[in-house]
Amino acid sequence: TGDTTYDNGFANTAVCKSAITYIDGDAGVLQYRGYPIEQLAEKSTFLETSYLVLYGELPTQTELDEFTQKISRHMVIDERLRELFRIFPRRSHPMPVLSAAITALSTFSTDTIGFDAERVDAATHRLMAKLPTLAAYSFKNSLGSPTLWPDYSLSYIENFLRMSFGTVTEQYEFDDEVTRALDVLLILHADHEQNCSTSTVRLVGSSQANLYASVSAGVHALSGPLHGGANQAVLEMLASIRDDGISVADYMGRVKDKKDTTKLMGFGHRIYKNYDPRAAIIKKHADSILGKREGSDQLLDIALELEEAALNDDYFVERKLYPNVDFYTGLIYQAMGFPVDMFTVLFALGRLPGWIAQWREMVNDPTNKIGRPRQIYVGETERAYVPMDRR
Ligand code: CMC
Repeated sequence: TGDTTYDNGFANTAVCKSAITYIDGDAGVLQYRGYPIEQLAEKSTFLETSYLVLYGELPTQTELDEFTQKISRHMVIDERLRELFRIFPRRSHPMPVLSAAITALSTFSTDTIGFDAERVDAATHRLMAKLPTLAAYSFKNSLGSPTLWPDYSLSYIENFLRMSFGTVTEQYEFDDEVTRALDVLLILHADHEQNCSTSTVRLVGSSQANLYASVSAGVHALSGPLHGGANQAVLEMLASIRDDGISVADYMGRVKDKKDTTKLMGFGHRIYKNYDPRAAIIKKHADSILGKREGSDQLLDIALELEEAALNDDYFVERKLYPNVDFYTGLIYQAMGFPVDMFTVLFALGRLPGWIAQWREMVNDPTNKIGRPRQIYVGETERAYVPMDRR
């Protein structure tokens, strides 16, 4: 149709101009607002990085304190929203529960109408504040356990860990290594330019749908195994290799055969044709955390063996397939005590500032147009309606 260009999976089409995240996929470089991911992972915290991603600059101490305070203030959710969690079956996967809860949250907010800076900031703080609460409640629902109120005296990460693993009867004991590791993992996920879920957030938002609706759609896009759901799929793959007694060589053979849809989950990336810098950072953290849980080491050994085999195999070398962010995260989340179906929820917690920042960048751009891709029509040409008795 006319001058429409076919671009399967948007592999070559830039749909926006963005000043948030820079990736050089050939060199394995990732920067938020110009700051290298390695420096942020080492020196920053998730809330500070979120501020950077959202507002473009590292905050001063006063700015960070104010931001933190605004978020702490909004962590509690309305009691009626808490009731929502009771309607889902026990053992529901927490991802659809989380998305439903975000949609429901919009009905409790007055900041869904209009795009003036004050309302957008209010919605930003509310979502940043309430997502850990909703995520922890989605988790508690999957366990059939009672929920806990947030505790304002705790940090963002501690609060989430306590709401996830704490009980109403016992004091939750923090492990500083776990708290810091989760902080770092969320920093690594904070933004990744126009990936599938972020593009979804932008596309939904481009119709001027509100931030909650856009983010809720982003959660669904993230859930698929080719995107955020890969962290769950990697762990299931490692466990099945262990439990079925398949050798790494046989598994690799099955992947390369392409007779079925078996993939080496946690490998490959649309943009990185080199080691994903996030995977390199996570691998360094894996050792200190994995020792905390029995059985994790065995899965780590399989992962290391798979990585070694892939990096030395022509199939993977020719296609430039390297470990991505999801290859090692699941192992760490599991060692922290999260079940596999919470892994993608943790990805969503980390990606939230990126989704919001991209949505804000878009609504603040007066030249932005509604997203409306074209297609190449390959169906029937015009034909006459056939009555039922002649079909
Ligand atoms: N295992 C085996 N072969 C693979 C893999 C893999 N993990 N990834 C790509 N390939 C092959 C693919 O079959 C194709 O081969 P051929 O040229 O013979 O047709 C070639 O490599 C190019 O792959 P592609 O599917 O055209 O690449 P893409 O950019 O469309 O897909 C991807 C990128 C991430 C969806 C894909 O690499 C994949 O499915 N990986 C496994 C799932 C995964 O780990 N996803 C997490 C991505 S990173 C974080 C996130 O987004 O959440």
